[in-house]
Amino acid sequence: MSAGKRVALVTGGNKGIGFGIVRGLCKGLGERGAVYLAARNEQLGQQAVAKLKTEEDLHPEFIQLDVTDRKSIEKARDTIVQKHGGLDILVNNAAIAFKNDATESFGEQAEVTIATNFFGLLDVCDVMFPILRPSARVVNVSSCMGNVTYITNSAIKERVISEELTVEELKKIMNDFVSAAKRDTHKDVGFPTTAYGMSKIGVTALSSIQQREFDKDKTRPDIVVNAVHPGYVDTDMSSHKGTKTIDEGAESSLYAALLPDKTDIRGQYISSNSNVENWRNGVAMIF
Ligand SMILES: NC(=O)c1ccc[n+]([C@@H]2O[C@H](COP(=O)([O-])OP(=O)(O)OC[C@H]3O[C@@H](n4cnc5c(N)ncnc54)[C@H](OP(=O)(O)O)[C@@H]3O)[C@@H](O)[C@H]2O)c1
Repeated sequence: MSAGKRVALVTGGNKGIGFGIVRGLCKGLGERGAVYLAARNEQLGQQAVAKLKTEEDLHPEFIQLDVTDRKSIEKARDTIVQKHGGLDILVNNAAIAFKNDATESFGEQAEVTIATNFFGLLDVCDVMFPILRPSARVVNVSSCMGNVTYITNSAIKERVISEELTVEELKKIMNDFVSAAKRDTHKDVGFPTTAYGMSKIGVTALSSIQQREFDKDKTRPDIVVNAVHPGYVDTDMSSHKGTKTIDEGAESSLYAALLPDKTDIRGQYISSNSNVENWRNGVAMIF
């Protein structure tokens, strides 16, 4: 691990699982850590930081970051570089999910969901990856809803699970899904009928590609990227139907964020019980 403080950034940290991850990192890293609670809304972010300070004597720092606003991501990066020189833990937790009774068309839901959960996450990676230090850990929060068996078009599915898939190809597949959803042909093409699920398939596949790319770059040793599933968690996203607490939901992310030096758990999908599962065959996408 790098000398000095380990610097961590959690997107969507103001509530839900992200808040639990911030709390867990503050406790886990203690004095050795500088934990940034990122939120798109400054007031909500500051309130969350204040809550951890006053109620638990934990000391994360607030940083504004909207994953759909590239300038805000770059500003957050510049602040971290200025204060710490680099980043050691990046938890891409922020995401959205339309409710079942949402009135937006499926095409609109697909566009907004993919823009936030996939392209927003990718933008954060594009901006933050250059400042990751050796032995950095990247956690991409995915979901068991991101099950590749929901892709019924076998050619697309084979491409998504291919070990040779590239980021550019994956971006095209995600854009093709949005275009098909807008034309209402996504079912005919064989794409999933869940935009959220498709976004998370993208996040899991992306994590595997990102690991392969880091592994090829010998100048950046031991950087590890994994996708995680938090389980079914009691948050606004699950309309508080989830059975796990936010701290339980944070466990798999914390496990992935704190993996030891030279871990062989790299580019994997880690389930809510912190086991590595084979996401490529779909059936193992369990809670
Ligand atoms: N809850 C579950 O059962 C479950 C299951 C599987 C996976 N997950 C995943 O776990 C992660 C956390 O979910 P959660 O249940 O904690 O959801 P949540 O309670 O709805 O919290 C989502 C967080 O993401 C933030 N966010 C949304 N859009 C953003 C944007 N454009 N820029 C920055 N932040 C943004 C939200 O900020 P605002 O407060 O400003 O909206 C909030 O802080 C997500 O990736 C989700 O897909 C959850």
